[in-house]
Amino acid sequence: MDISKPVERVDLLEKCQGNALFVDDLEIPGLLHAVTLRSRIPRGRIKRIEVPEIPERYWIVDYRDVPGKNSVKMLSEDMPFFAEDKVNYIGEPILLVVGEDKEKAKRILKDIYVEYEEIEPVFTIEEALNGNAPPIYGDNNRFVEYEFSRGDVDDAFRKAYRIVEGEYRTGLQEHIYLEPQGMIGIYSEGKVKVIGSMQCPYYVKNALVHGLGWPEDRIQVVQATTGGGFGGKEDFPSLIAGHVAFASIKIGRPVKLILERNEDILSTTKRHPSIVRHRTALDRDGNILGMDVEIILDAGAYITLSPVVLQRAIFAGTGVYKTPNLRVKGIAVATNHVPSGAFRGFGSPQAFFGVELHGTNLSDEMGISPFEYKKSMSVRRGDLTPTSGKFRSDVKIDEIMSRLDKLSGFTEKYRKYRDEKWKGIGVSLFFHGCGFTGDGEVRLDSRVKLAKRKDGKVEILVSTVEMGQGAQTALRKIVSHALNIPIEQVIYRNPDTDRVPDSGPTVASRTVMIVGGLLHRACEKLKDHMGEMEYVVEERFRMPEYVRWDQKKLHGDSYPEYSWGGVVVEVEVDPVTFEVKTSGMWGVYDVGIPIDERIIIGQLEGGMVQALGWAYLEKMDLKKGFLIPGTITDYTIPTAKDVPEIVVELVRTPYEYGPFGAKCAGELPFVGVAPAFASAVQQATGIRIDKIPITPEYLLEKMNGD
Ligand code: MOS
Repeated sequence: MDISKPVERVDLLEKCQGNALFVDDLEIPGLLHAVTLRSRIPRGRIKRIEVPEIPERYWIVDYRDVPGKNSVKMLSEDMPFFAEDKVNYIGEPILLVVGEDKEKAKRILKDIYVEYEEIEPVFTIEEALNGNAPPIYGDNNRFVEYEFSRGDVDDAFRKAYRIVEGEYRTGLQEHIYLEPQGMIGIYSEGKVKVIGSMQCPYYVKNALVHGLGWPEDRIQVVQATTGGGFGGKEDFPSLIAGHVAFASIKIGRPVKLILERNEDILSTTKRHPSIVRHRTALDRDGNILGMDVEIILDAGAYITLSPVVLQRAIFAGTGVYKTPNLRVKGIAVATNHVPSGAFRGFGSPQAFFGVELHGTNLSDEMGISPFEYKKSMSVRRGDLTPTSGKFRSDVKIDEIMSRLDKLSGFTEKYRKYRDEKWKGIGVSLFFHGCGFTGDGEVRLDSRVKLAKRKDGKVEILVSTVEMGQGAQTALRKIVSHALNIPIEQVIYRNPDTDRVPDSGPTVASRTVMIVGGLLHRACEKLKDHMGEMEYVVEERFRMPEYVRWDQKKLHGDSYPEYSWGGVVVEVEVDPVTFEVKTSGMWGVYDVGIPIDERIIIGQLEGGMVQALGWAYLEKMDLKKGFLIPGTITDYTIPTAKDVPEIVVELVRTPYEYGPFGAKCAGELPFVGVAPAFASAVQQATGIRIDKIPITPEYLLEKMNGD
């Protein structure tokens, strides 16, 4: 049976019968509601908090109620659960008001007065690196800094026939998952249980272990049905999980905390704004002799996941281009806005926006079609990755490009639009590293269990979550095909850390390839025991033996495998209003063997639409530290009217170590759209695009010569 063929009955999945309970739907006897008092200033000291008299059955919960350490443990411990004496961004939580009536709790909140002593804030990368404000972090606002190189890049520039430079900027982006963040904490008999919307139950659990200072067996984390994540529910849920846990322990009753939409926009993580700088040394024919790349990410107020986001960014620094010499630098800087965090693509979209728009500019300099230029300069099987590992599997650039040309008519349109103003077409070529970055998968040491039950069914026990991306279908399908049993016989419940092992977070496009791969191997073990009444098998992650990686030198195979894509975007620009209309969008992707074609196509199209929003619609800026727009009414995401008919095709290169040959897919489609879009606008307007989102205001400014 062909595993890629879509499951026929969607109603197989309990979730699709309209009875899924999201965290806000859960009713628990004695439930209290929490609302959050947040910093109104971007940076300063809290001098005094004046709390009015609190009525009975209402409570204040703040840093003094954190039993363990007041820090949300992630890669670092710099972010507090509750601000103590200082605040670093507008929206930073200071305390909770908890009580039976949420509206009344809000009224109490309004009467709390906080006296601050303001400190000069830092809002941009430039201010962080060169400004005069006292540093937020260390003595230079640099959270982390990395560099790696190959060959002799300075010599390459000395020998260059031509040097092309470019600077490319990207902005903030909000996830706008359908369901805002929310958690419930329940304390009973010395044990705390937290239920909520999340991607990573064990991240939440580990953060609670740290915040409570309790042994693991007194902490239980359960994922509620989750309405979208996109990375926004990777690290942030740990913060509010702490809030409801501390509140329920203090008060002795269950506490629910649900963010309202505008509060969610104001106070949860965003995509890192970036500056990507390129210098490329070319020979007479346009061949690349050397690439010098610098990527700076604006990480916001606290470290959270930024070191790894920066790693994924710099590991894509030179993109698909073959170059004997390179140097890639990365810096993540501290600024006074909400922490930047995980967002689909995880640093790679910023890197590829830079390198692929730069690639278009290189081809322009050489007077070669970007399609031909990109195709001929890109890596093939056996070539080195940016970090000097090896692309071991087939790299089907030629097939991707020829199918893309056929679908989109790029070659012909590109020629035509040279003489036709206000129309343009752009192309990008990209990869995505599958799974955790660098030594991440080794450190995660993921485990999965598979249990044959008395009733004959097989249960998947993993900490991976369904959040709308199709994990239910994909993982159950892998098990049902491997064991040759109907998919109805495979059970996969929302993870509960008391029942499932730590199979890692639901991030980094790792669910199918890594967790699905472990389940596939577990099936091999379980196969011979299907005749028994009950049987449980466990499987543990092993890095494929070919992977060579040095985390100190950032050298070698930064990922075990790569998925590939090529995207073409066609635009029309209104000569009066400078509004850009996307008239066509085509993508050809190699994600290995798709586990379910319908889900993969949905992921690919959805990712492209989300990236289109980032490219030209979703403008978010800081005004005196306030995120503008800070409301769902004014934050514009693409609608059906903004999106053309998207055409997606698949190239299938089976990955030997993936389940049924599958690689990664979730983040890949986000990576290629923005540079192709910007390249198209460049052709349509003749303006050198150096920033997204490409709004009419931006184009007008550029038309008027900045
Ligand atoms: Mo993701 S952006 O690796 O949750």
